[in-house]
Amino acid sequence: MSVIKHKIIEEIALIEIYNPPVNAISAAVRVGLLETIENLSLNEKIRAIVITAPERTFLAGADIKEFGKKVDAPILGKICDKIESLNKIVVASLHGTPLGGGLEVAMSAHYRIAAPNTKVGLPEVLLGILPGAGGTQRLPRLCGVDMALDMMLTGKHVPAKEALSSGIIDEIAKNNNTIDNGIEYAKKLVKEGFRPRPTSQIQNKISDTEETSELILKFKDTASKKYKNLFSPHAIIRSVEEGLKLDFAEAILNERKLFEECIESPQRQGLIHSFFAERANTKIPELKEGKPIELNKIGIIGGGTMGTGISMAAMNAGFNVIMIEQNDEAIQKAKAKITSTYDRSVKLNRITTEQKNKTMDMFSATTNFSELKDRDLIIEAVFENMDVKKEVFVKLNQICSQDCILASNTSYLNVNEIASVVDNPSRVIGLHFFSPANIMKLLEVVVAEKTSKDTVSTAFNLAKQMRKVPVRSGVCDGFIGNRILSKYLVGMYHMVEDGASPFHVDKVIRDFGCAMGIFQVIDLAGGDIGWATRKRKAPFRHKDDRYVQIPDRVCERGWFGQKTSKGYYLYGENVDFLTPNPEIEVICEQERKRAGITPKKFDDKEILDKYIAAMVYEGTKILSEQIALKPSDIDVVFTNGYGFPKWRGGPMKYADMIGLDKILKNIQKYSEEDPRFWTPPKLLEDLVKQNKNFDSLN
Ligand code: CAA
Repeated sequence: MSVIKHKIIEEIALIEIYNPPVNAISAAVRVGLLETIENLSLNEKIRAIVITAPERTFLAGADIKEFGKKVDAPILGKICDKIESLNKIVVASLHGTPLGGGLEVAMSAHYRIAAPNTKVGLPEVLLGILPGAGGTQRLPRLCGVDMALDMMLTGKHVPAKEALSSGIIDEIAKNNNTIDNGIEYAKKLVKEGFRPRPTSQIQNKISDTEETSELILKFKDTASKKYKNLFSPHAIIRSVEEGLKLDFAEAILNERKLFEECIESPQRQGLIHSFFAERANTKIPELKEGKPIELNKIGIIGGGTMGTGISMAAMNAGFNVIMIEQNDEAIQKAKAKITSTYDRSVKLNRITTEQKNKTMDMFSATTNFSELKDRDLIIEAVFENMDVKKEVFVKLNQICSQDCILASNTSYLNVNEIASVVDNPSRVIGLHFFSPANIMKLLEVVVAEKTSKDTVSTAFNLAKQMRKVPVRSGVCDGFIGNRILSKYLVGMYHMVEDGASPFHVDKVIRDFGCAMGIFQVIDLAGGDIGWATRKRKAPFRHKDDRYVQIPDRVCERGWFGQKTSKGYYLYGENVDFLTPNPEIEVICEQERKRAGITPKKFDDKEILDKYIAAMVYEGTKILSEQIALKPSDIDVVFTNGYGFPKWRGGPMKYADMIGLDKILKNIQKYSEEDPRFWTPPKLLEDLVKQNKNFDSLN
């Protein structure tokens, strides 16, 4: 079927665009649309042209897959200018999500009608670019500089009602039939004598006044803090600001120049990689055949930080939750934690008191395991210890029905071993939530040897209902995320023992764009957790493995981080954020001496190189062992659960961008000093030999 169809109904021409799934504006759409418009413009019988894209949504933007490639087709800006310049009325009939280039096409039409379900937006900023087809110039003309900048800097989707009141659209239709809406509206405009109304000539909402300058200054100020590492938000503000001083045609040229700078930026590559990676994560073999079972009632075991967070995530998704705790005191504590979280949301106007009460009605807690017997899914979030977990699963095996899915929220332990204590291990799965579980997006779905496809499908469905980003992981110590974290954490311990300051390491990681430094992360999670893991693993440690004792010395003093007000940093009401604990450097000095190490100086690059190399090293091993099915899944884990900057794409994409040969060279260099920790992974060697990158495995 042709991507563009048109027909003429009396004096109205109807254009229908078909490019499933979301009618992205590909080269074929651009070629076809321009040709059709040019032809229709010559037909004197036609009084109005209606642009529609029936089916799922009006044009959801440029075809992102084409960015960075050479494509032989007119640019969208040219088509928008052509549409606007027609001497016939052009109506855009919107529905679904007219976004980016889709809204730019709509704004170049002379009038816009939208179905009630419509949400419009210019989300280019989320892809590291700016609206490059006139959006930075036309949107302020329709809704004013304030709202336009807010929309373009956040990428938010604005519902039809708000789009109407702010002037972005002209009318809301009564129903979602986009073709009829467009034709009827065009007929009405023709009948009532309306004329073409080019958006570029609307001036009443923009002016180059002192007030506007102040407003722009405010946006610049916020952007310098909020988007300090990013390129495109600043380019968006520049395009709007400079556009106010230029005539429309010049402003469009200026926008185009800035757009091309964004396209060239590695941030664009990183963010677009993240966009597709977050859609590829659900493309896994189990989902092709597995059938999700319907979940209604969920049981949560454990009312600690994870148990309460998971309960809230489940309740927010509309599930009825029963929590099991050991005694009344623990129940009251868990209830108080949940209540106070919702109270805070009410206070911040995120939910109403009525919504809070309705959600709390879905929650109950008991010490009585047998109350779990009617549940469809149980998520265990008890203490991270194999014996304790097994004991819970033995009980669940007796109480729950044989179809009830039994999930463990373990962050390291062997899910095969946990599954071995139940009669039907096909229903056992790992659901590794991240703290705070009601907020963090990532959910590692750990597929054990005997987990059935239906169980995996149900877990992915649950993730969707909870608005989580699920990533499939195989079973290994720490799964995808924590296994890689353990590797680079140990790599950083080595560096600190060799002479680097933990605070310098953290600063380098933050400057790279990560949300937090690694030692900050330890303080947040609680140093005792890693300490327990190190003790658990101690009997299996090889005698030649390098073991740095600095973190043990810190924990022995009872310094577990935020929860004890002291860790690598100091915490308290009157303590500045990121105040180093001065005694840490003393411990480091003592430990270097004890280990007979003469401290070396490290610069930023050496620290960053090792940090990235350790991540990529373990990521490569995880791929070879098929713990992660593709490199982009590792990226999704790190950008959604570990604060790795999305604009760098994730560790594997970043490695591709800087070159796998460079990473391999670094690993080879490190392996000369410590061959046990840094043996170059074969897969990485093979990729370099074949001149391939990780993307070739996606
Ligand atoms: N280009 C290419 N493919 C796209 C696309 C786009 N703009 N938008 C979505 N897709 C693809 C997705 O990759 C996905 O493909 P698969 O099924 O193969 O995984 C499919 O369409 C469906 O997408 P979703 O799974 O995201 O579906 P959804 O219903 O949850 O969401 C959506 C639909 C709201 C449109 C969402 O896909 C979205 O936000 N898309 C991006 C919109 C956007 O950023 N537009 C601006 C583009 S840049 C631009 O237009 C620049 C300019 O100035 C010219």
